[in-house]
Amino acid sequence: MSTKVAIVYYSSTGTNYQLAQWAEESAKATGAEVKLVKFPELAPAAAIDSNPAWRAHVEATKDVPEVTPDDMEWADAFIFSVPSRFGNVPGQAKQFFDTLGGLWAGGKLANKVVSAMSSAANAHGGQEATILSLYTTMYHWGAIIAGPGYTDPVAFSSGGNPYGTSVTVDQEGNMVEGVEEAVKHQAKRTATIAGWVKAGQQ
Ligand SMILES: Cc1cc2nc3c(=O)[nH]c(=O)nc-3n(C[C@H](O)[C@H](O)[C@H](O)COP(=O)(O)O)c2cc1C
Repeated sequence: MSTKVAIVYYSSTGTNYQLAQWAEESAKATGAEVKLVKFPELAPAAAIDSNPAWRAHVEATKDVPEVTPDDMEWADAFIFSVPSRFGNVPGQAKQFFDTLGGLWAGGKLANKVVSAMSSAANAHGGQEATILSLYTTMYHWGAIIAGPGYTDPVAFSSGGNPYGTSVTVDQEGNMVEGVEEAVKHQAKRTATIAGWVKAGQQ
């Protein structure tokens, strides 16, 4: 049975959507069954409209399905991608996680293989803290964290965040570091490890 990977992202202005798409491409290349889904938007229309890039991104991705609890049960592995919000996960991700008490209580989130990615406007603007905040929740699920560490030389050319690939976004919304290959390595590694864990359970 093929490994099932859910790539779950939140993005206001497109960065984390791009990271998620690179992860999708790489996870698919391993032969895994892959779903790309987004955390539901919670911000009021007035906030979205205050930033034309945010509104444009919401419209451009309106057909991307929203993640559901069923997706969480379905997947063997998760790759999360979320922008930093003051060094923490966006409320959109937290709110969704906070609906999963039933799945968690039923043991349905245990032994999932996970890794996470992030972005911020500054090079040290909270990317590491955001990923580690997200991983705190994963420990409570009994998930298996498959961070990239320094398992490939691409870590060194992409900023060297061992917890998960992360990137700096400039004022124009462009990524400062070249992280595509790091994302692809991370996604391949997460899907591969999930395959090992799944095979070990059969
Ligand atoms: C409410 C809020 C808080 C933020 N906090 C920080 C921060 O503390 N440090 C930082 O460098 N960037 C911060 N940012 C910038 C975002 O992390 C950045 O816009 C995001 O990573 C871009 O990703 P996206 O294009 O996927 O939305 C913040 C943005 C918002 C809206």
